[in-house]
Amino acid sequence: MIKICFICLGNICRSPMAEYIFKDKIKKLKIEDKFYVTSLGTSNEEYGNDIYPPVKELLKRHNIEFDTHYARKFKKEDYEKFDYIICMEKSNIRNLKYIVDDHNNKIKTLLDKDILDPWYTRDFETAYKEIENGINKLLEKLHN
Ligand code: 4NP
Repeated sequence: MIKICFICLGNICRSPMAEYIFKDKIKKLKIEDKFYVTSLGTSNEEYGNDIYPPVKELLKRHNIEFDTHYARKFKKEDYEKFDYIICMEKSNIRNLKYIVDDHNNKIKTLLDKDILDPWYTRDFETAYKEIENGINKLLEKLHN
């Protein structure tokens, strides 16, 4: 089983979007059993909160199923639980490195560019497209 954790700042917009887009794709490919997928944030700002309502609307528009979500911050002990820790932007990597040393080189960005925070930009569709594009590339790498 390949264990993946998607990471953003607040864990209410981009990383849950990535989690549920990924889950949708592996369900359609009938390879759900190959993966454990979740998401976390690098801050406690939104601790315990559900997915941001505009992101829920976006996921519904794209027919992506999601569950009740509980935003949480990445903890040092989470590092050993995953094979891939996939960040939405470079600042997430910097923040994670205050929490843990990446001795197994698991921490990467989803794309070569930053996926800007729609919580600030209000451009949820661009974030969605970029995240989906990154997930397609990640799945090409992991599913062979
Ligand atoms: P996310 O967006 O990192 O994509 O979940 C944010 C949501 C909330 C905050 C920052 C980013 N916040 O500071 O509360």
